Amino acid sequence: MLIAPSLLSCDFSRFGEEISRMDKAGADFMHLDVMDGHFVPNITFGAPVIKWVRKYTDKPFDVHLMISDPLKYIDDFADAGADIITFHVEADSDIQATIDKIKSHNIKAGLVIKPNTPADVVFPYLDQLYMVLVMTVEPGFGGQSFMADMLPKVQAIRKEADRLGLCDLLIQVDGGIGEQNINQAFKAGVDVCVAGTSVFKAEDAAVAIKNMKDKCI
Ligand code: DX5
Ligand code: ZN
Repeated sequence: MLIAPSLLSCDFSRFGEEISRMDKAGADFMHLDVMDGHFVPNITFGAPVIKWVRKYTDKPFDVHLMISDPLKYIDDFADAGADIITFHVEADSDIQATIDKIKSHNIKAGLVIKPNTPADVVFPYLDQLYMVLVMTVEPGFGGQSFMADMLPKVQAIRKEADRLGLCDLLIQVDGGIGEQNINQAFKAGVDVCVAGTSVFKAEDAAVAIKNMKDKCI
């Protein structure tokens, strides 16, 4: 299981150091939640901030765009140093054009579905994607409860990916994940877990990450 700490729960006055701390603690990806106050009812940070903190790690930057018009900003996030860009199928931009734009920068593309969106919406795009993110909370805020009833969507996506012979596709879940429930995600076929509160509120982030990985057997 790969663990992607969500920097949404970090001390933003020390954003760079928090990234270094997660790097040392064993993070696989740095999950960066971009919110525009329109697609979701919260505002975080944008491409200029990501560009400033890029130098604090060599680990992949996994940029989760919770914005209404992702297509308009792909060039900016590419320039900021994103390695993976995921965007919501529920956003306003044309999905195919947005995937094409991300890939034109040699960046890995991912689609995200909110809790009320069925899994099959992503099926037509699976062969072009590096990752699919199944939200296990309503996007917008950290610290919410994990929705275990989203896991059948993970299984459905895995089944369709297998049917298409896409054995490298990563499936990610995001929201409410910690030591207490990561095994359920693992068993459903999840490859990457985002974890905000459970990593940042832990006394020792390295222990929290290790304990989560150890539960995946
Ligand atoms: C929610 C964000 C998540 C969030 C996860 O909209 O996409 O990445 O930070 O935080 P926790 O792990 O606290 O639910
Ligand atoms: Zn996220």
